[in-house]
Amino acid sequence: MTDIADVLLVHGGTPLEGEIRVRGAKNLVPKAMVAALLGSAPSRLRNVPDIRDVRVVRGLLQLHGVTVSAGEEPGELVLDPTRVESANVADIDAHAGSSRIPILFCGPLLHRLGHAFIPGLGGCDIGGRPIDFHFDVLRKFGATIEKRDDGQYLEAPRGLRGCRIRLPYPSVGSTEQVLLTAVLAEGVTELTNAAVEPEIEDLICVLQKMGAIISVDTDRTIRITGVETLGGYTHRALPDRLEAASWASAALATEGNIYVRGAQQRSMMTFLNTFRKVGGAFEIDDAGIRFWHPGGPLNAIALETDVHPGFQTDWQQPLVVALTQASGLSIVHETVYESRLGFTSALNQMGAHIQLYRECLGGSACRFGQRNFLHSAVVSGPTKLQGADLVIPDLRGGFSYLIAALAAQGTSRVHGIDLINRGYENFMAKLESLGAHVELPGQDGEADEAAADGDAASVAVA
Ligand code: EPU
Repeated sequence: MTDIADVLLVHGGTPLEGEIRVRGAKNLVPKAMVAALLGSAPSRLRNVPDIRDVRVVRGLLQLHGVTVSAGEEPGELVLDPTRVESANVADIDAHAGSSRIPILFCGPLLHRLGHAFIPGLGGCDIGGRPIDFHFDVLRKFGATIEKRDDGQYLEAPRGLRGCRIRLPYPSVGSTEQVLLTAVLAEGVTELTNAAVEPEIEDLICVLQKMGAIISVDTDRTIRITGVETLGGYTHRALPDRLEAASWASAALATEGNIYVRGAQQRSMMTFLNTFRKVGGAFEIDDAGIRFWHPGGPLNAIALETDVHPGFQTDWQQPLVVALTQASGLSIVHETVYESRLGFTSALNQMGAHIQLYRECLGGSACRFGQRNFLHSAVVSGPTKLQGADLVIPDLRGGFSYLIAALAAQGTSRVHGIDLINRGYENFMAKLESLGAHVELPGQDGEADEAAADGDAASVAVA
């Protein structure tokens, strides 16, 4: 169990109502910060959220001599890479296990210093999350990689040269690895089967502002013509469509009404279609999107996660909580991560009926069908949820537990809430502003007593 400061008591049964704001995307901002390393002049990044992944990258950049300071407007960072230097391996290693972003330092550090040290990676436990594509790509550019006990040591003895790469799967991180390496490599790089998520498009915009030459074809091919130097950029990060969808799902599951300031239709079209099919209502204006439960029953749906422009895997977990309230059988086929449905066992202990399958249910066969992973689900609803003791398994699963606890009758004890700070800025204040009844135990003796009296179903879920 986690320590008491990392536990949240959630008294469910109240619809979430009000307005919150999402800032720059967690899956863009840290990468745009890494891109600043490639420049010969300072960069300005706006709309930066205060989340753990940003703090980790900031720390790593500073270790490498990048000055990171606050800009003129709130949420603006100025990143000055003019004095990039080698960092102490032990200091870098202190960041081991903290995030997946350090792998993206490889290309920029090889360009700037000729060598790089990458500590053990962190990130959510939602599948094996190998990094074989990243290293295959870097070797093609001419890097040598040596695995040692404390991490990976890379060198580029003859510099980095453009090449032709075909990704075995349109991996987001590997596409970013290619972009951040190819922009300063000698010659042309052609990447096929690339990922084209909106965050990647935004990273390409950042790199183009710095002086890079990058074209994207309709068939997932990206061509990068290497240039000799890059300058700085000024950029406002695209808003976090994953966080926006999490709040939308919370509105639906709690029968609430939330205006998400900053949410953008363009990057959420697939989510919005699905939200509407389930029976959720939304209204789009220039500044954001309002999401609400219009009353009446919700509809069961068939859902398959996929790379963009498909239904994003990070939208899946929060929406599944809302599907427990839909009438009939919903089918969910997770095709991006092999183990992103494990969080449902806790929902079942709260009263949901979710059965997992190893087969590919729904439309198409995926990479996991023959490999014995529980990656499909049938959600049978509607079911009443009861408060429980919950242990957060990963970032999106964690937010889903918060939604479930808020939709449930009674009190839940949610353990490991610090993990949510990795990707959701200021989520406690946002919950409170939406009228959620949440409290940190120990700050109010009555809260502890209520839970001890058996208000919560006290189901320990690992
Ligand atoms: N893959 C490999 N080998 C590799 C890299 C990826 O087999 O070397 C596989 C993965 O195991 C997975 C698939 O390819 O099955 C897709 O992984 P991808 O590389 O696209 O994921 P990522 O870059 O590690 C980012 C986001 C994830 C998001 C995915 C998919 C960041 C920091 N993370 O991860 O976000 O789910 O793309 O869009 O950008 C989250 O926000 O909660 C989150 C997990």
